[in-house]
Amino acid sequence: MTDSHLPGRLTSRHILATEGLSPGEITLLLDLAEAYVEQNRAVEKKTALLRGRTVVNLFFENSTRTRTSFELAAKRLGADVINMSAEGSSVRKGETLIDTAMTLNAMRPDVLVVRHSESGAVRLLSEKVDCAVVNGGDGTHEHPTQALLDALAIRRRKGRLQGLLVAICGDILHSRVARSNIHLLNAMGARVRVIGPPTLMPSQIDRLGVEVFHDMAKGLDGCDIVMMLRLQTERMQGQFVPSIREYFRFYGLDRIKLAHAKPDALIMHPGPMNRGVEIDSEVADDIDRSLIREQVEMGVAVRMACLDLLTRSIVSNVGGP
Ligand code: CP
Repeated sequence: MTDSHLPGRLTSRHILATEGLSPGEITLLLDLAEAYVEQNRAVEKKTALLRGRTVVNLFFENSTRTRTSFELAAKRLGADVINMSAEGSSVRKGETLIDTAMTLNAMRPDVLVVRHSESGAVRLLSEKVDCAVVNGGDGTHEHPTQALLDALAIRRRKGRLQGLLVAICGDILHSRVARSNIHLLNAMGARVRVIGPPTLMPSQIDRLGVEVFHDMAKGLDGCDIVMMLRLQTERMQGQFVPSIREYFRFYGLDRIKLAHAKPDALIMHPGPMNRGVEIDSEVADDIDRSLIREQVEMGVAVRMACLDLLTRSIVSNVGGP
């Protein structure tokens, strides 16, 4: 791919959630990401599209996939990248999130990618800075680029999103991935089911336009996509499942449970996976049915598309007092 790209813009200068993204905006992001998949598979992966631009990754929570892929995405577009984590920063000396953000803002980055354990923290931060902000995951609220990369992976294998039946299974209560996927898939005309134990199901989840199941066999019946979620023990205070063994017995994906979905159903997991907890290795590593490695690959392309589109509206970051 050269430095010419698809025309188009997002209506917001930030990407904070999939809730509120229009089908046109989602399609624009996915189509542009599709072009970046080709660029990433070429020997020469770099362009100068974002030369002179600065992307700061500000991660207050651990990450392997999201942080690395944003860094790769920015570098492949020619931007300068700074990676910051709470560990080793002045956050450990008591500096607040907002003061940290204002400090970085004063250095005039073009894009801030932020992950934080508190739902709403990234939106709050976006209101205090001049640059574009991407939500890299905030508490149990949203993880929009994960849902975009999931959608790209699905669209590439199934050819569409419209009309697909997608089951999101496991710890729905603590999952920002589930929320972002529900909003995006509904916007794109897919049907969404959520499956999990009552203790891991948010009250009134049906208001998000999903069907709720507590039984894997019933919930997976006729599904095109089976998206497994990690048990997010770091967000749990108290006992949500009787035991890991029992959880796997009833909700862990294995061949027997997968047989209830369509014969060509695809398996997804945002990672990191807990093998033997929510998913069996035999299905996770099935090269015909598992999209898990492809999800990771699509992550770089989707994040390139996000950085590309967000920086289109930036004419210059020079100015001010
Ligand atoms: N899926 C995901 O967000 O993974 P990381 O926590 O490794 O970024």
